[in-house]
Parts: sequence; C-alpha cells; structure tokens
Amino acid sequence: MPDHFQLLKTDTATAARRGRLQTRHGVIETPIFMPVGTQGTVKSLTPAHLREIGSQIILGNTYHLNLRPTSELIKELGGLHAFMGWSGPILTDSGGFQVFSLAKLRKMHDDGVEFQSHLDGKKLFLGPREVMTIQQNLGSDIAMVIDECPPWPCDRDATAEACARSLRWAVKCKEIATDNGFLAAGHHVFAIVQGSTYDDLRREAAESLAALDFPGYAVGGVSVGEPEPEMLKQVGATTPFMPVDKPRYTMGLGTPPQLLKMVALGVDMFDCVLPSRVARNGLVFTPDGPMNLKNEKYRADPRPISEEINNYTTQFSRAYLRHLTVAGEILACTLCTLHNLHFYLDLMAQARAHIEAGDYGTWYRAWVERYETGAA
Ligand code: GUN
Repeated sequence: MPDHFQLLKTDTATAARRGRLQTRHGVIETPIFMPVGTQGTVKSLTPAHLREIGSQIILGNTYHLNLRPTSELIKELGGLHAFMGWSGPILTDSGGFQVFSLAKLRKMHDDGVEFQSHLDGKKLFLGPREVMTIQQNLGSDIAMVIDECPPWPCDRDATAEACARSLRWAVKCKEIATDNGFLAAGHHVFAIVQGSTYDDLRREAAESLAALDFPGYAVGGVSVGEPEPEMLKQVGATTPFMPVDKPRYTMGLGTPPQLLKMVALGVDMFDCVLPSRVARNGLVFTPDGPMNLKNEKYRADPRPISEEINNYTTQFSRAYLRHLTVAGEILACTLCTLHNLHFYLDLMAQARAHIEAGDYGTWYRAWVERYETGAA
C-alpha cells in the first residue's frame, strides 16, 4: 500500500470505498467532491466560505491560469495557494481538455498540441513539459497529466490513436515529475484513462497506466455528450482495471445521483461545475430534487430551501432568495452557490458515513429514489 493513500474500508455489497489521501496541504477524506475554481476563484465565494462549508480540496486550471495571469506571475507571487488565499489542497487539471473544448485551430504534434488562445487568438503550445512546468509553477498538490479527450461519438481507430498518444504523454509527464523532484517533494501526479465507449480500449489504457505506478488515476472522456447510462457504463468498464490501492477520480461529473452511483462503482473523487454554475441561475438542490427559485410559486414562500438542511443559506426564505435571483443581485449567486456546494460536500460526508456503517448500498438507492421521484 503506498503511504499517501490509505484504504480504510471497502463496502461488501457495492464497490464503494472509504479512503484517506495525504497531500502537501493536508489530508482529504474520500469519497470527496472538489469545488471548481477554474480562474483561481470558486465563483462568488471567498476562501472563508469554502472552509465554512467543509471544502477539503478545490480545483484550479492550467489552461486558464496560464493564459491569464500566467503561471510565471503566480509563481513570482508565491504560488496559487498564496495568490488566492487558500491554504488547503489544490488539484489542477492539465489544460489538455480545455485545448480541445475551447481553443481554436488545434494542430496535434507528437510532443504536444499547438492552438490559438480563445481569449486573444495568440498561438500557444501545450505538451507534457509545458503542463508539468505550469503545474509546478502553480504549486499544485495534485497535477494531472496532459491527455487527448476524444469527442462523443468517436470511431475506434481515432480513439485508439488518442489512447496511444495519451499514454506516451503520461509516460513523459511522469519522467519529468521524477527528474525535477516534483514527485519526491510530495506533489502527486494523476494519470487519465481514455478509451471513449470501447471497453477493451479503456481496459488496455487502465492497465498500461497502472503499470507506470502513478500516485492516482482518473477516468477521463466521460460526460462529453453521451447519455447517462453510457457514461456509467464507461466508468464501470474502467474502475475494475484501476489500481485498488490508489485514489480514483472521475473528471467533470456529475449530478447528485450520478455521484452516488459512481461511488458504488468504486470512485473516490469528483469535480464538476454543475452545482456552482446552476446556482448562478437560481437552481438549488434539495433531497427531493432540484428547485428552481425563479418559479412564481416561491414568490411569498416563507420556508427555507429545505427543512432538513442546515447551512448559512437555509436561514433565508425561498421568497427572499427568489427576490434576489429575479432582481439579478450578486448575493443570490453567493447564497445559492454556498448552498449547492454545501449540499454536494454534505452528500459525500453522508456517503463516507454509510460506507463506514456498512449500509452504503441500501442507503444510496433509497436516496436516489427519493431525489429522482421528488417534487421539490
Ligand atoms: N475534464 C473533464 N474530462 C476531462 C478529460 O478527459 N481530461 C482532462 N484532462 N480533463 C477533463
């Protein structure tokens, strides 16, 4: 067992796991949700808010932070933790995914990808050396390798090619992080398993990457437009071939029921812009499903979002929150984001408690049933 990850308990009825991951900026109890702070901020929240709702780790992004304000500037100012005033762990995505989803005029090369910035059209290049240097400049606790995420759907030959390129880049990232002392200093580098909808390619990718002994592993290339059953099938086709004794992370997912279903498949870590993005549009989560605060029926409703939830936002009435949302007030974003991220973090805390208690399978099925049939 590697010393940075402890597997505390594995559920017997499902593949759910309770674990503990040590990073340079503290310990993470898994399963865990990681709020997304792409630009060096979780939109509308301060680090004090993040701590208050129990965030253990947040995300940053190489692509965005390197375009603006640049990783050199952040390094000069003490690294991303000091720059944004967050003293807990930070995971940074490598930027590869954003090159494929945001940038223009991409050109693939063996040693990386050439592209134009979506901000000003400037020509840039990202490869293993560049993404590892940027993530080192940022001081990430968990850095991701650069990968090629195939679109959905994607034919088999193109997927196999993306997997082969991603594997070569992963080997290079690990070599760089070993040679420059990044890994020895206690930073982690996670590999990313691609393979689109091809179970055998996912298995092959997972097994080849497992042989390289990374500190952790991610499932990539999911939630790129495929229907939910296909997404869960891909995660389920990947986790059995990921190392048991390393943390497992699905990138960019998902809804509350999806998180619980993926925990049951043996996933430990999640990130998603969904809870913070929909909050800025007045959508909040409850145990009976999502609630759209813009709805006229909440105009004079004195009740909190949910009687069962206790956080800073639930001291306010639905009527007040609706008023702020409809009026386009900044405070609506802050209060709804606080609520939704607290909801996700608390859901993961409940999942951890039920894995420990040994009843995760029955608990999560009942939770999903209520959420999916509820009329919030
Ligand atoms: N974020 C969501 N999906 C992916 C992926 O496949 N790769 C990377 N690097 N980031 C992601």
